Amino acid sequence: TDRYAVVGNPVAHSRSPAIHAMFAAQTGQSVAYDRLLAPLDGFEAALRAFAASGARGCNITVPFKFDAFALAARRTERAQLGGAVNTLRFDAEGWVGDNTDGAGLVNDIQRNAGRSLAGQQVLLVGAGGAGAGALGALIAASPARITVANRTLDKAQALIASHAALAAGHRVELAAVTPADAPAAQDIVINATSTSLAGAASPVDARVLKPGSLALDMMYGPKAQGFLDWAAAHGAEPRDGLGMLVEQAAEAFFFWRGVRPQTRDVLAALRRELE
Ligand code: ATR
Repeated sequence: TDRYAVVGNPVAHSRSPAIHAMFAAQTGQSVAYDRLLAPLDGFEAALRAFAASGARGCNITVPFKFDAFALAARRTERAQLGGAVNTLRFDAEGWVGDNTDGAGLVNDIQRNAGRSLAGQQVLLVGAGGAGAGALGALIAASPARITVANRTLDKAQALIASHAALAAGHRVELAAVTPADAPAAQDIVINATSTSLAGAASPVDARVLKPGSLALDMMYGPKAQGFLDWAAAHGAEPRDGLGMLVEQAAEAFFFWRGVRPQTRDVLAALRRELE
């Protein structure tokens, strides 16, 4: 049995072990997947001990995705672009870091929610770690325009600058604004800020929505509820981050095992558990 874990602080409520257990059962892969709580000042030591015990890799969650980036000997292109690592594979030649969050988001929007991003007007709210991890994959799906809105404008500007070449290649227009200057009537609005943690409804005004907009919060459970209620109240289709969670896990499973699990039944089972 090959061992993996999700490493974070806190990590007790992570659904990743349940998701990977379902993937393992479905694909017949001999995989065990645990939770690993790392001390805030002891991430590297915890990771080295886990790898030394014979484990094959791990997922990394808050607040260690940047530390994981620094510890990887090699990184995939998408991890390099996003500046963060959520998946490590402990290869004999060294640790390889990947970031499956952006692909997970895009797969959830396009496959599970059934919305093609091609030609769409997209508003990405938040230029922190979560927003940075998502932008590259969103660009690769060829929307017409992506506006990054962030309270600290500098961070949004730096983020679109680092993605300018990729955007040009896909003919995607990029813009950086403060939330107050966010454009109206967007097709898809993605909340990648941590404001929902404080229970606030939305960091942007409702004019960014129009009837039928998809309004997705990367969080799920109570943390997402304020944003989802706000979106629904303004005629948008609310979507939480549970599908993204399952899809990023599927990408990580593929990165480790070379086998791509089906996600539909896993997402449905998780949804039932949380209700
Ligand atoms: P994460 O990894 O979850 O993205 P982060 O890197 O700390 O965490 O980024 C948090 C994001 O939420 C940032 O976009 C942050 O805006 P700033 O860059 O201006 O700090 C945003 N954010 C946090 N609290 C906010 C608030 N009260 N209003 C608006 N945006 C907020």
